Amino acid sequence: MRILGIETSCDETAAAVIEDGSYIHSNVVASQATLHAQYGGIVPEIAARQHMITIVPVIRQALDEASLRADELDGVAVTHGPGLAGALLIGVNAAKGFSLANELPFIGLNHLEGHIYAAWLEEGVNPEESPGFPLMCLIASGGHTDLILMKGHGDYTLIARTRDDAAGEAFDKAARALGLSFPGGPEIQRVAEHSHGGEPRLPRPVVRDSLDFSFSGLKSAVARRAEEYGMYPPSEDSPPDPQQVANVADEFQQAVVDCMVQRTIQAVERYRVNGVILGGGVAANSHLRQEMHKRVPVEVIVPRPGLCTDNGAMMGAAGYFHFRNKVGSQWDVDVIPSLRLG
Ligand code: KG4
Ligand code: ZN
Repeated sequence: MRILGIETSCDETAAAVIEDGSYIHSNVVASQATLHAQYGGIVPEIAARQHMITIVPVIRQALDEASLRADELDGVAVTHGPGLAGALLIGVNAAKGFSLANELPFIGLNHLEGHIYAAWLEEGVNPEESPGFPLMCLIASGGHTDLILMKGHGDYTLIARTRDDAAGEAFDKAARALGLSFPGGPEIQRVAEHSHGGEPRLPRPVVRDSLDFSFSGLKSAVARRAEEYGMYPPSEDSPPDPQQVANVADEFQQAVVDCMVQRTIQAVERYRVNGVILGGGVAANSHLRQEMHKRVPVEVIVPRPGLCTDNGAMMGAAGYFHFRNKVGSQWDVDVIPSLRLG
C-alpha cells in the first residue's frame, strides 16, 4: 500500500511516498528555516504564505522521485494538528484537493503520531515485532515534550508533558540568549562540541509527584548566566567569548538531556514497557541519543536525525496503519491547532 504523506504544521513543507508504513520511495522536505532566522523564530503568516508557494512543487517532486503516478497511490495522509492554523490549512486543503482529483482515500492525522511512526521507517526496524508493545514514546519538539504510552497501533495514553516550555523551545530560547542563530537546537549542539567543560552546574528542574517536565527555569538560568557574563543583551562593542558560549551551551544541553533521560527511565520502570521510541526535532540531538542508549534499561529506537525533524515520510508511515484498518475518507476533517494525542 502506497501512501502520500503531507506535512505543513510548522516551517517545513514536506511530502513523501511510503510503502506499507516502512519503505521510503521519496521524502522531500523544503525547509523555511533561513526565511524565519532573521526574526529569531517562526512567523506564522510567513510560514503559511511560503507553504502556499511550495506545496505543489514539493508534492510533484515527491511523486517524481518515487517514479510513481497519482493513480499508483492508495491513499493520502496529512497532518491536521497540532500546529500553526494557517500552515496546517495549506497542507490539509492541498491533500484534500489531490485526493479528490485522483479519487484517493484521504485521512487527517495527528502530527505527534507521525513523530512516533518515524521509528518504523528505519530499514530492518519494526518496533511492533522487536522489542514489541507496550512502548514508551518520548516526543520532544519545538511545541511538545510528551511521554506517551503506546500499547498498540492507535492506542495512546499521555503519561507526562511539559508544564511550561517544550524542550525544543528551551533550546531555541537559550540559543538566543547566547547570541546563536535560529533554530537553536542544532546551534547549541554544534558549539557545545567545543566546550572545555567546568561550567558551574545549571539546575535540573523536576515537577514533584509527577513525571511532567519543566524547562522554563532552566531557560531563565541560562539567560541570567548570559547576562552575568556580559553576553546578553548582545553588544557590538564586546562580542561574547566563543569559549564561554560553548561551555554554557554544553552545560545547558547536558541539563535538558538529563531531565529527559531521568523521566524516561522512571516512566519505563513504572509502566514496564519493552522499549522506548524517541521522536521529534530534539531527538536529532546527538547527546540525547547517546545518553538514552547508554542509560535507559530497555531497547531505545531513534530514527536518523532527518526523520526526527518534521517530514512527510512519518505521516505516510502513520497513514498506512490507519488505512490498513480500512478507515474511510474524512472529508469533514478540519485543522485543529491544539490537537492532543492520548
Ligand atoms: O519536530 P520539529 O522539527 O518541529 C516541531 O514539531 O516543533 O522540532 C523542531 C525543534 C526546534 O525547537 C529545534 O531547535 C529542535 O527541534 N532541534 C534540535 C536539534 N535539531 C532540531 N534540538 C536539539 N538538538 C538538535 N540537534
Ligand atoms: Zn514536529
